[in-house]
Amino acid sequence: MRISVTGCGYLGAVHASAMAQLGHDVVGIDVDAAKIDRLAAGEPPFFEPGLPDLLTESTASGRLRFTTDAAAAANATVHFVAVGTPQTADGNAADLRYVDAAIDGLLPHIGPGHTVVGKSTVPVGTAARLAERVKATGARLAWNPEFLREGFAVDDTVEPDRLVYGVEAGDDSSVAVLDEVYEHALGLGTPRIVTDFATAELVKVSANAFLATKISFINAMAEIAEATGADVTQLADAIGHDARIGRRFLNAGVGFGGGCLPKDIRAFTARADELGRGDAVAFLKEVDAINLRRRKRVVDLATAELGGSVVGRKVAVLGVTFKPNSDDVRDSPALDVAVSLKGLGANVVATDPKGIENARSRHPQLDYVDDVNEALRGADLVILVTEWAEYRQLDPAAARTLVAMPTIIDGRNTLDRDAWVGAGWRYRGMGRD
Ligand code: UDX
Repeated sequence: MRISVTGCGYLGAVHASAMAQLGHDVVGIDVDAAKIDRLAAGEPPFFEPGLPDLLTESTASGRLRFTTDAAAAANATVHFVAVGTPQTADGNAADLRYVDAAIDGLLPHIGPGHTVVGKSTVPVGTAARLAERVKATGARLAWNPEFLREGFAVDDTVEPDRLVYGVEAGDDSSVAVLDEVYEHALGLGTPRIVTDFATAELVKVSANAFLATKISFINAMAEIAEATGADVTQLADAIGHDARIGRRFLNAGVGFGGGCLPKDIRAFTARADELGRGDAVAFLKEVDAINLRRRKRVVDLATAELGGSVVGRKVAVLGVTFKPNSDDVRDSPALDVAVSLKGLGANVVATDPKGIENARSRHPQLDYVDDVNEALRGADLVILVTEWAEYRQLDPAAARTLVAMPTIIDGRNTLDRDAWVGAGWRYRGMGRD
């Protein structure tokens, strides 16, 4: 199929590359010329395992190219819209200006026989509004939310765990087009749900709301565990054995961040308020509040461990990204903790395998070092906030020789506590001691 993908950020770049690898003829379109140049050269402007190879192979095959010219869409018949929907600067709602601009860019180049496919995460009701504009050209609109996880984006795109098509009643043509696009995944037996626009839009935000709720649930239990001496990790293991609950996404710690979960639950709350159904998802405000309290908990723990004041003390912060295998620092709990401690007067030295460049551009006031050993050297306190493999595999005995004071806060409950205590460390977990 001939496909255009408007928006070559995280979602669009991965989607375009994966579709080309699956045999489609793809053009990626973005207004950012620097981004387009980098993608065309096979260098993704962000870190994602597997993407550089996929990009290089797909561009070399001649099936993938990138341009800033929206008119390039005219050669395609399927047009994915994969632009961002960030949180508005003055509130919780999603900012739809990029979605509208993408549709504006496509409209002159589409017509009968074309299908526009929305992938961006949008407030429920957006697709119905956009459909009117798209249909005025004779083209059709479908909504096809994306569930990829950073760090696993390539695999999640090539082999998704489900496909959701939101279409207008009776629009069999759009279903047939999407079936052809996703022939590979459907051949693997991937479940496919065909539904209306509103349900498709809601599937995406409710999935993220559920995941955020699951994390905040276990973090709420961590708060109780902290007050009672219970161990939230064992609690999660025990309740996770109940197949109805499941152990995944029950890792207590410093909480969730990133470009999706935090802003999506806020946008969902804002949209529900507009619909007069704010009460239905009022609990998401609590989910957000619990999540943000975990960051404060780490800062409070650090302050307590340093005797009531962090002023002038060297704190090694291991990790700045919102999760491992990503260079994304958007709404990162790790970076938030580092910035708060710096604001309180600590001498913060942060390190990260991939995220330093992005962190530095947002928070130049922090000191960054590439080498974890350098971060540890002379530290009065060590805080692990992003569970990169290289931090999980640190040798506690060797690390002990580098620091000034052997105290570690394990903000992700990811270390072998006994090994660290055995090597002479004071260990503080999240919801467990
Ligand atoms: C999420 C959804 O998982 C994905 O389906 C959607 O398409 C986009 O949003 P992503 O933002 O890449 O993906 O990250 P995810 O793996 O979901 O983790 C989100 C955050 O939750 C991270 O900060 C992570 O550290 C945290 N988390 C996750 C926990 O604190 N505890 C857990 O048990 C799991």
